Amino acid sequence: MTNENIHPADRGSVDIPAGSPTTMNSGVPVPSDEYSAQVGQQGPHPSHDVYLIEKLAQFNRERVPEHLVHAKGSGAFGELEVTEDISKWTKADFLQKGKKTPMLARFSTVAGEQGSPDTWRDPRGFALKFYTEDGNYDLVGNNTPVFFVRDAIKFPDFIRSQKRKGGSGLRNNAMQWDFWTLSPESTHQVTWLMGDRGLPKTYRHMDGFGSHTYQFINAAGERNWVKFHFKTNQGIDFLTQDEADKLAGTDPDLHRKDLFQSIQNGDFPSWTLYVQIMPVDEADGYRFNPFDLTKVWSQKDYPLHKVGTMTLNRNPLNFFSQIEQAAFEPSNLVPGIGFSPDKMLLGRVFAYADIHRYRIGANYQQLPVNQPLAPVNSYAKEGAMNYQFHHPAVAEYYPNSTGGPAAQPERAFDFGEWDTKGANIYRGEYVQHAEDSDQAQATTLYRDVMDDAARERLVGNIVGHVSAVDPSETDLLERVYAYWGAVDEGLGRKVRDGVESNPNRGDAKLGWN
Ligand code: HEM
Repeated sequence: MTNENIHPADRGSVDIPAGSPTTMNSGVPVPSDEYSAQVGQQGPHPSHDVYLIEKLAQFNRERVPEHLVHAKGSGAFGELEVTEDISKWTKADFLQKGKKTPMLARFSTVAGEQGSPDTWRDPRGFALKFYTEDGNYDLVGNNTPVFFVRDAIKFPDFIRSQKRKGGSGLRNNAMQWDFWTLSPESTHQVTWLMGDRGLPKTYRHMDGFGSHTYQFINAAGERNWVKFHFKTNQGIDFLTQDEADKLAGTDPDLHRKDLFQSIQNGDFPSWTLYVQIMPVDEADGYRFNPFDLTKVWSQKDYPLHKVGTMTLNRNPLNFFSQIEQAAFEPSNLVPGIGFSPDKMLLGRVFAYADIHRYRIGANYQQLPVNQPLAPVNSYAKEGAMNYQFHHPAVAEYYPNSTGGPAAQPERAFDFGEWDTKGANIYRGEYVQHAEDSDQAQATTLYRDVMDDAARERLVGNIVGHVSAVDPSETDLLERVYAYWGAVDEGLGRKVRDGVESNPNRGDAKLGWN
């Protein structure tokens, strides 16, 4: 296998023919992997045993910091094949009928750490990187179409309420409910989370969503709002809380194993990509604010249009290099797709590239898994671990008179354009639309989308989760009952009755513990 005919993301893989000597990182053969050098038969190590020193030092540096969120993840390579003509909406080259684009997917839980069980209740990340001919396009979504908050300024607080406490190092259901009940815009997402979608059976058995509203731009420059949906072709399936609790102990890497083994066995998981399209001039009059990430667009109002199929057909050769160091970033745009006034999306387009520079290093895009297939002609240079550079004949500055790269606006990406509703700096609520409320869509989900059995499981899951809160937290518990009562009076009552009659109440309190 030569480096020319392997997948671009595998460019770091090195074949070592059988019978080769072990070498230092410098390539020099080493004397032993069994015995370090010592002074005499019982003496100390000489510090010039450079191989021992290199081996121990390299080992100490094997980890990079784990992802701040979505730390436990699994991934695979595949392709997106576009089967329908959507050129009337977007000129994005990789979304043109007949195109096949190599891609990488990483699925994850959100709040747990690297070693945490795959079956903890949580949204699942659904991060996609498309290696398009126009450069990398990343769609970094979840298995839910909505989110807990609608303003990026609340994201760090939300995550802190879900992760471990600074003092005890414990997760604490009381602080989760504290944040949620004080942030009623979370209601829709928490209903998804506490329902069946909060525990997918495997990564193959869940849908994926771009979640945010994006902008499609066609060749004539016409714009439409768009939402992306990836529907699993394996069918939706889920675990009950009891099953998940047991599996967390007996098979904590279940979802990683399932994905890896399915692909290894040639049972390639696939998803059908659909889009919802909203003409730009319909946004202002729509019954829900179409840029509010806590809301969906009703599919009765804006039906799904099929685009093509995404299939995962190749496991990573190396988990660390190709999955752990994969860097997804909503700021990776290609011509034909733009942003929208969703304040979460606009916050995210800063956050990801920034954390990659910290977590992996300034030149993270030079790692094979993150490198685009398209040529990189940027004026970036140097920095830690840089190994790509311009030929000395090519200018390192712009403007130059020697033919260095120059921006070509007609080939460039376009952030998207929209009405900013005023030119002054503003802090406050989103524009309110006729049916905007924090609970309305959760109520529809509970009353109209779930069946009786799903509603019963939802109540059981909420009761189980809330029961971890110490009964002395009466203010908090009253807020929880009111939170669910605002979705549906009967639901609020059932949650109260379930919690108050539960003989197994927990001891999670607000405050120091
Ligand atoms: C990961 C920030 C909202 C989906 C991350 C990471 C950060 C972050 C810092 C870690 C990245 C890394 O280490 O590689 C934020 C901020 C948000 C936000 C500031 C809100 C303003 C969202 C939303 C979604 C989402 C709304 C889904 C719709 C993901 C996924 C990952 C991730 C899937 C894991 C990517 C991977 O597999 O490497 N986020 N996030 N995030 N986020 Fe967000």
